[in-house]
Amino acid sequence: MSHTLNPSDTPINLTPAAPVSRRRFITLSGGVAAGAALSAPFVQAQPAKIKVGMMLPATGTFASLGTAITNGFRMAVGERGGKLGSREIEYFAVDDESNPAKAPENTNRLVQRDKVDVLVGTVHSGVALGMAKIAKETGTLLLIPNAGADDITGPMCSPNIFRTSFSNWQPIHPLGKVMAERGHKTAVWISWKYAAGDESARSFKEGFEKTGGKVVKELGLPFPNVEFQALLAEIAAIKPDAVACFFAGAGAAKFISDYAAAGLKDKIPLYGSGFLTDGVLQAVQAQAQGVMTTLHYADSLPSKRDQEFRLNYAKQFKMQPDVYAVQGYDTGLLLAQAMESVKGDFGNKAALIKAMEGVKIDSPRGAWTMSKEHNPTQDIYLRKVEGEQNKFVSVAWKALADPGRGCRMA
Ligand code: PHB
Repeated sequence: MSHTLNPSDTPINLTPAAPVSRRRFITLSGGVAAGAALSAPFVQAQPAKIKVGMMLPATGTFASLGTAITNGFRMAVGERGGKLGSREIEYFAVDDESNPAKAPENTNRLVQRDKVDVLVGTVHSGVALGMAKIAKETGTLLLIPNAGADDITGPMCSPNIFRTSFSNWQPIHPLGKVMAERGHKTAVWISWKYAAGDESARSFKEGFEKTGGKVVKELGLPFPNVEFQALLAEIAAIKPDAVACFFAGAGAAKFISDYAAAGLKDKIPLYGSGFLTDGVLQAVQAQAQGVMTTLHYADSLPSKRDQEFRLNYAKQFKMQPDVYAVQGYDTGLLLAQAMESVKGDFGNKAALIKAMEGVKIDSPRGAWTMSKEHNPTQDIYLRKVEGEQNKFVSVAWKALADPGRGCRMA
């Protein structure tokens, strides 16, 4: 079932609550399950459906990322006959428009109005920060299938918040080393000015300068603007050895295309975190040839697991999977495995959290585990665009964990 936004809905006012401790989260959620069991009728009732609230972008520059995540999640659930630990699922959906200003209202639609058991979302770091705040206050289980905001698995970390994707620090951290090894001494950084761009910039600089490189200029524009001309002219004037960037979705396709149109493609090699070239190659294949990126997924991983996933995904959705599809799929796997280990008893939050913390996900990206801050510990790959694929080149960093700076789990 899917909700469209209804402008006549009265916004819900939430009185701010104290952050949830692990115990409070468990008591709050356990109480509801116990109450439901007491009021059960004489006939053996079917266990209630698990309500899953999908808060993702359906419009704007990240719309296709939202689709891929939804597809992946549904595919994992579909592989289990549409059930999680024998409980059926009811879906609720909200288009978050990648708009942080609307995050509280959109999250509350799912939490307060629809009373979802689990929140799944989202893509944009600023929106995810808003969701995480409400998840902390209400104790709702939040599974993040993309947004990398470092703080969510740093100072904001919480027992009921898990990420199945990456921290913004993580995928681009190995890129500096890769670029230095390829002989680049100076680089210009360019990205959108918001949490994901700023945190990627910091991580890239840290990695590049540690290996002797120098970031000579950092350029930025507000999200989701795509007026790149003036910035590209500045890059042409600076003439760095290389350019590194963070862009994603439709904005990334436009950047790749404008970079080539400005005559820079064959003059100054372009690098980035792999979001730059994931899910966009059908649109900008010619302009992207040879671009090298680092990411926790590639299109040609030498594993049977991934090959089967790719075939099944393409068959089911009539499109090629990308990193976002894999992250959505892994979010489904995480919830499914945890639900199976508590035998569908969603009210047993302590056991559910424990299962998620100890999980090993046999992902198409390669097996990964959950760090103690609730972020994947995973391999990061070096990839190169060849034809319509982000070809696997090498493992750039084995089992990389986010440093989890500032996380104190309650
Ligand atoms: C983010 O805002 O955290 C973000 C968005 C799109 C990506 C990666 C990160 O592809």
